[in-house]
Amino acid sequence: MVSSPALVFVTKSLLRNCNGVPSVLVQRASSSWWGDVKMGPPDAILGIAEAFKKDPNPKKINLGAGTYRDDNGKPYVLPSVLKAEHRIIENRMDKEYAPISGYADFTKHAIELALGEGNPVLAAGRNATAQSISGTGALRVAAAFLNSFFPGQREIYLPSPSWGNHTPVFKHAGLSVKSYRYYDPKSCGLDFAAVLEDINKIPERSIVLLHACAHNPTGVDPRPEQWKELSTLIKKRNLFPFFDMAYQGFASGDIDKDAFAVRHFLADGHTIILTQSFAKNMGLYGERAGAVTVVGSDKEEAERVLSQVKILIRPMYSNPPIHGARLVTEILRDKQLRSEWLEDVKGMADRIIGVRADLREALEKLGSQRNWQHITDQIGMFCFTGLNQQQCERIIKDFSVYLTKDGRISMSGVNSKNVHYLAEAIHQVTK
Ligand SMILES: Cc1ncc(COP(=O)(O)O)c(C=O)c1O
Repeated sequence: MVSSPALVFVTKSLLRNCNGVPSVLVQRASSSWWGDVKMGPPDAILGIAEAFKKDPNPKKINLGAGTYRDDNGKPYVLPSVLKAEHRIIENRMDKEYAPISGYADFTKHAIELALGEGNPVLAAGRNATAQSISGTGALRVAAAFLNSFFPGQREIYLPSPSWGNHTPVFKHAGLSVKSYRYYDPKSCGLDFAAVLEDINKIPERSIVLLHACAHNPTGVDPRPEQWKELSTLIKKRNLFPFFDMAYQGFASGDIDKDAFAVRHFLADGHTIILTQSFAKNMGLYGERAGAVTVVGSDKEEAERVLSQVKILIRPMYSNPPIHGARLVTEILRDKQLRSEWLEDVKGMADRIIGVRADLREALEKLGSQRNWQHITDQIGMFCFTGLNQQQCERIIKDFSVYLTKDGRISMSGVNSKNVHYLAEAIHQVTK
């Protein structure tokens, strides 16, 4: 006879109860295994999407989600991705498992895209690169590796603010999470003096997380000269730089420009960890294509590192998904398709840059007395508008413009049809 888990538990608990175990165990078991599980808070972004869906206002705008939309507000499948997909289907590729660290062709092309062809790190074979479940999976694997092997403090310092998932990902892997000042709410820009001051105080041999480009949520990036200063300081302080690069090409429209910081730190002699995502720059959100790279001091070290990365991946998810990686590989290895993709990614970046200028201009034309320069100074998917919580609540309630309560808007939700309505709404709540 098969007993239900609850019954087995009750029986065992009763037995244990006779031996003096508190009876509360018996009471819990009689209801359900999961009776004590509390309702968790809803995801902030998904909550916005739900409220948006229910809103009957025909002028409503959803500026919560960080996924690209075209000028009609529709999801966008890149033409280069569609071409790659056709080829894959025509080739009738099998559905076998990928190796634990993913397809070798994929990892080769992915890291070459980040570091640039002919980078000495690649020529020397110093990169331990594994395919990952997009950027989040790359972060999680990197975090697990650091938690197991980092020889310094198992402490990671994040910019404040940082992407909302960074803290849970690193904590989940067992790292201790701290922060350094980054954003200046007065200028809606970078507080570089505070960044330097705080990084100067971080205990030696700690980990510093850097957003390689298009900082999420602020859209505020250091300038090249500032990156150079940071590289010098981080080296001097004996800190370990960890780059999260989720937006290469998507920020400026130029894959090399967006990789400046990563390449500069390597040229400056740092060994780094790098996480990459193809969600934004190839529009492969749900395909979960990404990569994690640990740079070693030589090829032999990188091989040892990769062997341990594989040992960490195996019990987490065995091996990565194959379709997205095939799309990325097809695009990056074929010269013609690659140049078409570069046009596609530039098209997305340019639309975002254009709509930033439109929004700022519309606000200025409405006679707003505020300085909106930060809208065009910031870069990438997000804009930190500077709206406070009250203004955010008002713009949601009175204008059906949905955003996170920190004043962040996803620029991809703005287009030529809604930019004037949005400007009017922002103007009204900030007067
Ligand atoms: C800074 C940053 N890192 C990593 C990611 C990971 O994204 P994904 O797991 O979809 O590749 C994101 C996505 O929004 C991000 O903004």
